[in-house]
Amino acid sequence: MFAGNKVSLASLALLASSAWAQGPLLSPLEPTRGIMLGAWLDTAPGRDTPAAFNSRFGHNAAMVHLAQNLPLVPSALAPVQLLDQTNTNAILYLSIYPTVLPDALTDDQINALVQQLTTYTRNGRGVLLRLAPEMNGTWQPYGQRPLAFIAMWRKIVAAVRAADPSTVKGVSFIWAPNVFGGYPYSGAMTAAVSPTEFAALDTNHDGVLNELDDGYAPFYPGSDVVDWVGLSTYWFGTSYPYVANNLPTAGYMSSIIHGIGAGGNGPDFYSIYSQTNKKPFFITESGAAFHEFQIATPTSTVSSAPVAPGPGALAIKQAWWRQYLTNSTFLDAHPQLKAVCLFEWTKPEEQTMRNFHVTNDTDVLAAFKADFEAPAVLSRYFFAGPAAITTDPSAPPADPAAGVPATAGTGSGTGGAAAPGAGGKTGSGALTIAASWFTTVAAAAAAGAYASLF
Ligand SMILES: *[C@@H]1O[C@H](CO)[C@@H](O)[C@H](O)[C@H]1NC(C)=O
Ligand SMILES: *[C@@H]1O[C@H](CO)[C@@H](O)[C@H](O)[C@H]1NC(C)=O
Ligand SMILES: *[C@@H]1O[C@H](CO)[C@@H](O)[C@H](O)[C@H]1NC(C)=O
Repeated sequence: MFAGNKVSLASLALLASSAWAQGPLLSPLEPTRGIMLGAWLDTAPGRDTPAAFNSRFGHNAAMVHLAQNLPLVPSALAPVQLLDQTNTNAILYLSIYPTVLPDALTDDQINALVQQLTTYTRNGRGVLLRLAPEMNGTWQPYGQRPLAFIAMWRKIVAAVRAADPSTVKGVSFIWAPNVFGGYPYSGAMTAAVSPTEFAALDTNHDGVLNELDDGYAPFYPGSDVVDWVGLSTYWFGTSYPYVANNLPTAGYMSSIIHGIGAGGNGPDFYSIYSQTNKKPFFITESGAAFHEFQIATPTSTVSSAPVAPGPGALAIKQAWWRQYLTNSTFLDAHPQLKAVCLFEWTKPEEQTMRNFHVTNDTDVLAAFKADFEAPAVLSRYFFAGPAAITTDPSAPPADPAAGVPATAGTGSGTGGAAAPGAGGKTGSGALTIAASWFTTVAAAAAAGAYASLF
């Protein structure tokens, strides 16, 4: 079972489940109240950076989204140094996309991920981990295999929870399926792929996988291993194929998260997974598309035909953020909402060039700030505070004596303490920054508002 420094994942799972049997009331990195606002940016070289976002928005993103594959690709790790460059303690909101079938992931590959995460947490960077998002979709390699997905999920959570103490406290798992509407999607899994997986998907046991089956429940790994639950919510237009600019339907955001849709109703995600299961709710991606022009192929960046502006980008986006982000009625009705990630991109998708930005175009940014900075709105949000954190991916791995395997592929497995952060934080010292993890605008929210495990 033990090979070199490697720790058997099976034994870690046992340790982890007993250590976590009596979980805290709050999930790791969950604010007691208030909402963390963050962004997913187009971080390709020369495009956008978290520091640039903070500067034009005028507030420090509480978390910044980055994505990477699993197994790790050493040349394509999440560019976490972009967070370091903000000189804030922003949380890394990391999406992990497995590129292999869930049961093909090896212990070594999981250990490599844990080791990478520990490099971040040991230096004071919290991680909100969105593991294998949209696992109920057909388009992901790990999609629509609920049993294998859950087994993989539990193994990774167990490995993280048996790692360095900073990692145990500083990594929080987000379960985020795709929203209802279109389930089980074209190309849905058939019984031929695996009879047991099919039986798990066919929740009403009528022998077919269709929209009458529950697209969420078969994929829920269990409340003992889920810290947050989330959905991505977008406005693309009133009807497929979304080549017209329309105002969002009134109340659309609320409908999505409660499972009410034009194509039939789905499970009430917010009520079941956030309220009943007592998990903080995360709007894991959100934006309203302004269609700039039509494109001939889904990846083309060249106009093939104009799209009429309709009500215009400002009106469309403002109607969207006013449905939730700056809407006191909505926010009061959803106290479990603790994090929102803005999808700050202009990108070709399907048949148009879609502009989702609220912080790029000057008129939209000015209107967004005007709504967002209303005191009754702004006081609800959290932002990152100043901090000098260095999460150099080439830093030495965590100390094996602390329980983190010093193996895993990077070739630098000599053990020893993690490199000190620029603020002089080492090892457990990194945990002490927690009290000042966030700054909030409202004085009232200051005391004890950020309670998590730090
Ligand atoms: C996920 O589940 C929901 C709820 O049933 C379903 O409507 C949605 O289409 C599913 N999405 C995927 C990708 O399975
Ligand atoms: C604000 O939210 C409430 C509750 O979801 C909704 O009924 C209302 O239409 C929203 N207001 C706007 C301007 O979208
Ligand atoms: C922001 O807007 C400008 C002007 O329209 C555009 O050139 C730039 O590419 C946009 N930035 C991003 C990151 O999309």
